[in-house]
Amino acid sequence: MQLIIFLVDLLCASTTAEILETIAQWPLLDFALPYEREFLNQYRPENVVPTGIEVGWDRIFISVPRLRAGIPATLNYIPRNLPLESSPQLQAYPSWDWHAAGRGNLNCSMLISVYRTKLDRCDRLWVIDSGVMTSIDDFRPVCSPKIMVFELKTNQLVRQFTFPREVSFRLRFFLSSFFLHLFISIGFN
Ligand SMILES: *[C@@H]1O[C@H](CO)[C@@H](O)[C@H](O)[C@H]1NC(C)=O
Repeated sequence: MQLIIFLVDLLCASTTAEILETIAQWPLLDFALPYEREFLNQYRPENVVPTGIEVGWDRIFISVPRLRAGIPATLNYIPRNLPLESSPQLQAYPSWDWHAAGRGNLNCSMLISVYRTKLDRCDRLWVIDSGVMTSIDDFRPVCSPKIMVFELKTNQLVRQFTFPREVSFRLRFFLSSFFLHLFISIGFN
């Protein structure tokens, strides 16, 4: 699978049609992995399927849910200011500490499986986490679904909403679905 990120150039001053510009591309997504044996052993590059991209002013955020085993970090970023058509390594957001699930350590305070993110006007990143491990292979709902809000200036968690576990099967299904994009686009704009 080849992933290509385009930026739609919508300059108000210009009257011409939108310009699509390739800013990054990868044959397989690659991570700036910490040198830890647990991460390296579990990593399966062929299982990395991004489902969400959000463009901030200095970074581009890439969501990689744990659809199958072997995802090191479920929420990542690349710098926005890149040489054209480069293949940057994904950096864990906000840090590798939040992605212990990638080395097999499940802690529900951390990020488990992120499908989408959305930036708001206050430069905060809203992160939708389904709490489900390996949803395609065996669908293991290990934590409640949650929304985490990170302030980009400080990269600190500033808010968290955890959904009750009882309602969670349908909600998880919803969070895992591609309709969600529509929902957050409408809800947070
Ligand atoms: C989970 O992470 C939180 C936040 O860092 C920490 O306080 C807690 O001790 C961790 N729990 C386990 C079981 O490791």
